[in-house]
Amino acid sequence: MKITVVGAGNVGATCAENIARMELAPEVVLLDIKEGFAEGKAMDMMQTAAIQGWETIITGTTGDYSKTAGSEVVVITSGLPRKPGMTREELIGTNAGIVRSVVENALKYSPNAIFVVISNPMDTMTYLAAKVSGLSKNKIIGMGGILDSSRFKYFLSQSMGVPASDLQGTVIGGHGDTTMIPLTRLATYQSSPVSSHVPSEKLAEIKAATMVGGATLTGLLGTSAWYAPGAAGAALVASIVRNEKKVFPCCVSLNGEYGQSDICLGVPVVIGKNGWEKIIDLQLNEEEQEAFNKSANAVRSMNAVLDSL
Ligand code: 2OP
Repeated sequence: MKITVVGAGNVGATCAENIARMELAPEVVLLDIKEGFAEGKAMDMMQTAAIQGWETIITGTTGDYSKTAGSEVVVITSGLPRKPGMTREELIGTNAGIVRSVVENALKYSPNAIFVVISNPMDTMTYLAAKVSGLSKNKIIGMGGILDSSRFKYFLSQSMGVPASDLQGTVIGGHGDTTMIPLTRLATYQSSPVSSHVPSEKLAEIKAATMVGGATLTGLLGTSAWYAPGAAGAALVASIVRNEKKVFPCCVSLNGEYGQSDICLGVPVVIGKNGWEKIIDLQLNEEEQEAFNKSANAVRSMNAVLDSL
């Protein structure tokens, strides 16, 4: 069994490293177009194996998709990252061509793979991957909501002074600064609503900080974040290959669920060996549903740009 990560940049390499350390597959293939780059990253990571005590084989390759043959999961991270002041949406022109070619090439060698899309703008890249691949909709999963929800829980935990792992919180909608919807009403601290612990103005601040969480890090780092995106990608892969049936907010193709169709957008789904297996209905209230519809409209107009490329 093999897992491929396409793109050996910060996010791809971190994702591959997490997958290797978790021993989610005997072999992880890291592919990049930059000569020698994936090979170098793979070798560097492999040289940590003796220290850390894991046995995954990481193979690096410069663009040779035959090395990825028979992958159970293909994670797509390639494309330009954000620069400070840039939105994820501004990447669409360049990244659409890259993601299209990655999907086509990977499918030639791994026709049964499940695709995890991390490249930005993630909602549109997931929609594109679904169209290009022609695969069953359950096999295309965009990773954005796991990351955004983890950021949401981080900001809540900082404010409340409690461990993030004691919090439940979900971000749905698009993976964009203005399209994501941190569901403050449904967030809990060990079953108790966070609204009982955090004043409403503070909760509004946490929601806002979550929405620009990626941009804040881009400003600090000079490029997109990678630790949390890489870890989130690996958590998604783990639930697939171990058939964990975890519920994660992911970008999936909607067919009437949450009132939307012909779009890929973030909703909670059960993740197992078949990809996303079921959508969980959170029974949004009127305000949340309105925000979701607005988010869908914004993502839909981004998707329309694909037709003009
Ligand atoms: C982020 O939000 C890379 O989109 C990713 O950090």
